[in-house]
Amino acid sequence: MAINVSIRPCRQDECPAIFELWQAAGSIPSVTDSLRALELVLRHDADLLLVAETNGQIIGTIMGGWDGWRANIYRLAVLPQFRRQGIGRALVGELEFHFRQKGAQKISILVEGNDELAKVFWNALGDTGYQCDPRIIRYTKTL
Ligand SMILES: CC(C)(COP(=O)(O)OP(=O)(O)OC[C@H]1O[C@@H](n2cnc3c(N)ncnc32)[C@H](O)[C@@H]1OP(=O)(O)O)[C@@H](O)C(=O)NCCC(=O)NCCS
Repeated sequence: MAINVSIRPCRQDECPAIFELWQAAGSIPSVTDSLRALELVLRHDADLLLVAETNGQIIGTIMGGWDGWRANIYRLAVLPQFRRQGIGRALVGELEFHFRQKGAQKISILVEGNDELAKVFWNALGDTGYQCDPRIIRYTKTL
């Protein structure tokens, strides 16, 4: 990585900046995008919402979900001007470290079928073990 980036857990006071980053990065918004939801994430697993930071600026995020059975990755996003420098890959690697510490054995990621950038990224991470599973479709319900 050419620039000096640190990856660390998000602080509660940084949650508003996370929303701004998601918007700037073009992440697909969801009903779960609320301060309260992020506070619940931090209360549940403070080490699974990670930020990438350089010179005091948050430039990337990744969120992990761990329910004791399976690990999931959400909201991987890097600001456009900082892309293609290995930050996305580094965020995934750091989150994997935290998943391993919790005993996770398998990680899943949901990707929109027409999100070509996300697909090219996860296909590139095939060299670290990620594989597309075309058998899976997703059902959701908003409470
Ligand atoms: C996907 C995303 C997080 C990647 O972040 P990043 O920091 O640019 O990723 P990396 O630099 O670690 O890229 C790793 C590899 O993915 C591939 N890749 C990433 N972006 C690519 C692009 N625009 N075109 C072609 N390949 C690309 C490359 O193989 C790259 O390795 P290389 O640069 O050595 O060739 C970023 O583009 C983003 O925030 N996109 C919008 C949100 C999104 O789609 N999130 C994923 C949802 S699951």
